[in-house]
Amino acid sequence: MKKLRWLILLLLFPLVIPISSMRGTQKPAPPARPLPANTVHDVHSYSNPQEVRVRHVDLNLHVEFEPKVFSGSATLTLERVSKDRAARLILDTRALNITHVWASSNGQSFTPTPYTLGASDAILGAPLTIDLPDDATTVKVQYYTSPGASGVQWLEPAQTAGKKFPFVYTQSEAIHARSWIPLQDTPGVRVTYSAYIRTPPNLMAVMSAEHLESSKGEYRFQMRQAIPSYLIALAVGDLRFKPLGKRTGIYAEPPVIAKAAFEFADTEKMVETTERLYGPYRWGRYDILVLPPSFPYGGMENPRLTFATPTVLAGDRSLVSLVAHELAHSWSGNLVTNATWSDFWLNEGFTTYIERRIIEALYGRERAEMEATLGRRDLEEEMAELDERDEILHIDLNGRDPDAGSTGVPYEKGVLFLRSLEETFGRANFDKFLRGYFAHFAFQSITTADFAAYLKQHLFQQSTALAARIPLEEWLERPGLPASAPQPKAVAFARVEQQAHFWAEKKLTLKQFTTARWSTQEWLRFLQSLPDELGAARMAELDEAFHLTQSGNSEIAFQWLLMAIRNRYEAAYPRLEDFLTTIGRRKFLKPLYEELVKTPSGRERAQAIY
Ligand code: BES
Ligand code: ZN
Repeated sequence: MKKLRWLILLLLFPLVIPISSMRGTQKPAPPARPLPANTVHDVHSYSNPQEVRVRHVDLNLHVEFEPKVFSGSATLTLERVSKDRAARLILDTRALNITHVWASSNGQSFTPTPYTLGASDAILGAPLTIDLPDDATTVKVQYYTSPGASGVQWLEPAQTAGKKFPFVYTQSEAIHARSWIPLQDTPGVRVTYSAYIRTPPNLMAVMSAEHLESSKGEYRFQMRQAIPSYLIALAVGDLRFKPLGKRTGIYAEPPVIAKAAFEFADTEKMVETTERLYGPYRWGRYDILVLPPSFPYGGMENPRLTFATPTVLAGDRSLVSLVAHELAHSWSGNLVTNATWSDFWLNEGFTTYIERRIIEALYGRERAEMEATLGRRDLEEEMAELDERDEILHIDLNGRDPDAGSTGVPYEKGVLFLRSLEETFGRANFDKFLRGYFAHFAFQSITTADFAAYLKQHLFQQSTALAARIPLEEWLERPGLPASAPQPKAVAFARVEQQAHFWAEKKLTLKQFTTARWSTQEWLRFLQSLPDELGAARMAELDEAFHLTQSGNSEIAFQWLLMAIRNRYEAAYPRLEDFLTTIGRRKFLKPLYEELVKTPSGRERAQAIY
């Protein structure tokens, strides 16, 4: 299985092979922000922000589809942190080809400075150590990426919706920014950035930043708010824009833009709702970029521009909790950021909590409870197979790849913890606490300990009696779920479960079902409530009645295909193969492959599809 997981990873982000050209120069805009007091140690970065900190990144990149490389320069504006002038700057890199390094005392005139690229570690990449002259304020690195850069995916025209033009996108979280920019790749360091991007003349570039100006093949961007490196993002393809509301819109390839605009029509309302709950949206615009299906995630919260999988375009807006989720990161994650990947639950648990609150505000309590119930069920299923160390919110990732350790725990255990705070202290009170939390830590990167201290001071202090009901240490530092973990309840699910059981026990025929008005969430619950061992004949019966193999809803299709593998329902295999070869979303691929390799014939099939 380990091997297969690596195969999947390799498929998504293949490996190295260099070649390319060089150019570019640019002056940075020195920022005037107070320097954060200190930086916690991040085991996933070689950088030395305790001594010298990068404050602004100025990119000058040429996007070259032919050798599949970005080439150009990154100019980094520095601030000394320690009083004894640091003699060196250490940057993170992975499979980067460094061609020149210069230093400057004024950001204008640069002189070459010595540097060394250390040995490459499989997880961390290679440290780039740059000699810093005493008066250096700026460093400029000229480089080009490798075609197999772990954070860059190059697509052939056949892999796009339009089939005519190539496409490229970056995915920097967790530690892939270093594969396309040499920088201090730790979420504890925040930078502003600017970029000058050159593309083939018929393609459009978009970034997680404000779009300044462009002419054919030339784009300028600026991100004025200080963000962690994992939020720097770029995509280039045959893109169109369609506005949704006054500060919201969609970027997508021409064949999908209308469908996407329909699907995400509620986006502006979501922004307004979240502002009402947790304070102002601090990023200006909120747009969504719909990517080709190989995108490895459901969504990525790149600031001002969420990257989203097309697999949520169900045609009925039933999977828009993904937008609620990525939008929620504009508060939890992008505004208040996990300082290290061990604190990842601060990003994802809070975001899942806000996501469900947005869904409740827009679509009602029942819908939010259905999603919460599905979430808790997935968590329990996953935890049954997890190592105890992976069930801990404040996870120890020393020596591990933060992507490999990524599970549903920071999301669903995190949200249960926050929900237990809401239920214990009351919703109005907890909302007020959260507003205070976002205001207090805005544009900072914080640890689990920072959060716990703030929680004790601002919530627990209100009532020692209520605080005594929260097993805080158990929630944060121990595996499993505390006995007091909330249990979401969806009334509609009781009906669906009953029908599933009656049909399984042959007390009801499918004709007697009342599925006409079932939501996607009810369908998912129905499928999950059926016995694991159904047999191919009963699968065929379901398929005939409900056409599940052909479902256009990716979540329903995924659930059905899992069942198809388990029950050796061969009529669904062509769809399974199609699903596995076109969709890159890890949440779907991993469980399907895991289910396949449980049997020898399935393993063969998995290898063949691969
Ligand atoms: N930030 C994550 C995606 C991510 C996590 C990328 C870890 C790299 C490392 C994003 O906000 C996310 O959680 N996406 C989910 C969708 C969401 C609706 C739960 C996903 O992609 O499944
Ligand atoms: Zn998230």
